[in-house]
Amino acid sequence: MIVFDNDADNPPWGTDVWHSDETFREAPPLGTMLRALIVPEYGGDTLFASMSAAYDGLSDRMQQFISGLEAVHDFKPFRNLFDSDPASREKLRAFEDRYPPAVHPVVRTHPVSGRKVIFVNPQFTLGIKGMDDAESRALLGLLFHQAEIPEYQYRHQWAPHTMVLWDNRSVQHYAIHDYYPNRRKLERITIKGDKPYSDVPTVALEVVRSRKGARAISHDAHGGHAPKQE
Ligand SMILES: [Fe+2]
Repeated sequence: MIVFDNDADNPPWGTDVWHSDETFREAPPLGTMLRALIVPEYGGDTLFASMSAAYDGLSDRMQQFISGLEAVHDFKPFRNLFDSDPASREKLRAFEDRYPPAVHPVVRTHPVSGRKVIFVNPQFTLGIKGMDDAESRALLGLLFHQAEIPEYQYRHQWAPHTMVLWDNRSVQHYAIHDYYPNRRKLERITIKGDKPYSDVPTVALEVVRSRKGARAISHDAHGGHAPKQE
């Protein structure tokens, strides 16, 4: 169980970004339970977005384009929690060994409903596998934006001793930090899940590359700007 107990001395951190929990894991959690104990006088709501509704809201052409792609996920925001002294770097390396980057379908199939779900999020998704950085950023920006559309959202206003259980496989959430410096205390339990899958075959890396007309790699692949050998 994780306790979130935030106030003026312990500001909330890292939850005011759209995400589904811990997608840097090979098998991200199935769901999360959050129970409110102390609720601020105002603010501190949690936003939820249905990423299956968000998928349904894309054009047929975009749905086809993103189906079969894969994305790389990493515990990237948590890297800032490690200091730069040797002992902390050692701990970070151990964490990296335990959680190597995870590859998940960009569109996962929900194992119960069979619905398609956009499964990339700005907190943990690094990039689209097989695309260069510019393409990947443009596409991810569009997909991240889908969670921000109010029609796909539910906004939960907490009352003491209420509990919310959400499906982490199809829902993203965002905890609003507007109550700071007031106190807000919640308890969280995360439920073990399975590895995400897609019922659409994965698009081979070479196929993605050929779409952007990759040239054969040769010794002159840097256009004559390759680092010079001394
Ligand atoms: Fe979360």
